[in-house]
Amino acid sequence: MAENAVTMEKLVALCKARGIVFPGSEIYGGMGNTWDYGPVGVEIKNNIKRAWWKRFVAESDNSFGVDAAILMNSRVWEASGHTTSFSDPKMDCKSCKTRHRADTLIESHSKGTVNPDTMSNEEMQKYIEEHHVNCPVCGQFNWTPIRTFNLMFETSRGVTDESQNKIYLRPETAQGEFVNFLNVQRTTRAKVPFGIAQIGKAFRNEITPGNFIFRTIEFEQMEHQWFCKEGTDEAYYNEFKQKAFDFLLDLGFKREHLRFHDHDKLAHYARAACDIQYLYPMGWQELNGIHNRSDYDLSRHQEYSGKTLTYVDPVSGERYIPYVIEYSIGADRLMLAVLTEAYDEETLENGETRNVMHFHPAIAAYKAAVLPLQKNLAPQAKELLAKLKKRFSVTYDEAGSIGKRYRRQDEIGTPYCLTIDFDTLENGTVTVRDRDTMEQIRLSPDEVISFLAEKCAF
Ligand code: GAP
Repeated sequence: MAENAVTMEKLVALCKARGIVFPGSEIYGGMGNTWDYGPVGVEIKNNIKRAWWKRFVAESDNSFGVDAAILMNSRVWEASGHTTSFSDPKMDCKSCKTRHRADTLIESHSKGTVNPDTMSNEEMQKYIEEHHVNCPVCGQFNWTPIRTFNLMFETSRGVTDESQNKIYLRPETAQGEFVNFLNVQRTTRAKVPFGIAQIGKAFRNEITPGNFIFRTIEFEQMEHQWFCKEGTDEAYYNEFKQKAFDFLLDLGFKREHLRFHDHDKLAHYARAACDIQYLYPMGWQELNGIHNRSDYDLSRHQEYSGKTLTYVDPVSGERYIPYVIEYSIGADRLMLAVLTEAYDEETLENGETRNVMHFHPAIAAYKAAVLPLQKNLAPQAKELLAKLKKRFSVTYDEAGSIGKRYRRQDEIGTPYCLTIDFDTLENGTVTVRDRDTMEQIRLSPDEVISFLAEKCAF
């Protein structure tokens, strides 16, 4: 596979042309940092979420799922600290009226040599003035002072104007897991350590450019909170770092495209924190986070709700508030990494190039494409299609030459093409073409079913 074959422009173009991801509200001129998944993209994203759920919930001995409400009592966000401190330092360019994050301006001006995470707003302001950091859009130096900008989207509830209350679209799914800690523990009779996982939408009023689906204002998170006893937290933190890394390797990521990034600056309650970064087309960026959050989250919810959230050990009778190891990954950000990793432009022996997406077969939108060699073989092809559809996500194509049809499937990463030809009429077998090697074998329909089941498992 060619290294760094892909640029963001190529990925965006391929995704649009092949029904993977479209610009949001496109016919109205779009809407910044929003994207819509098309027929192929929704299958890929669902498969990513399914693989994650299987690994971290279904196959786990002691993890349970929830699907909590997006809209939560506003006190949740006071307890979590989001209403006071979930903000970015922003500056407006008075010349071209664009909005920017001060920390991002410093990071790109210093080419990563200065870490703005450790700077106060005053220090950032001073840096920007002393280094005369110009607006990256219009090139002018005409800034407003830095102001903090809360990233939560506000809305209101109530049937009359008088009864309106400010509420928020959740900026992370994690709080739905924390507030249900005792509900899950009691109904499952789980003993600490145990986990609560959730996949769902989160919303952030991001002001920085998104880099396609890397940073959007509406996105899906896959989050897993592991509740454990103080003293065991460090070992579980390391275990989750490894599990998160292994999950990516098993999806087919190259080890050299992934790296750990341990955080130097920790929140006051955190014991440890790291990201796994991926080598995206725009460079190394955070793909997911693993945090040792101490007993902060449950303690804060206990304090703000007035409800006890202590766990009682059934053997020792000891009461304590568990520590939390959080593993959090964006489904869309993982999708971008999966697309980047899979993309390849291959030069064939005859000098032609083919675009091919080398997805793990479990992640590919379709496990197979059924292709009648000629249109008069369509009845036999449709019979096979109907049989396979009961077990797998499969597609059908009878338009154009067989070579063109193979290329179309290569571009969306379909791992196997099943061709119905004249031998099918004779002996019932079909040609199975492998996307990556382009080698072909012949199998009967029943053999195709067990072949796909084995090859496409995760
Ligand atoms: N509960 C912890 C939490 O939300 P985070 O680092 O802010 O932590 C976790 O977010 C993950 O969610 C990130 O590593 C990233 O994969 C994803 N994510 C965060 N903001 C995002 C955005 N604006 N667009 C897409 N994905 C995002």
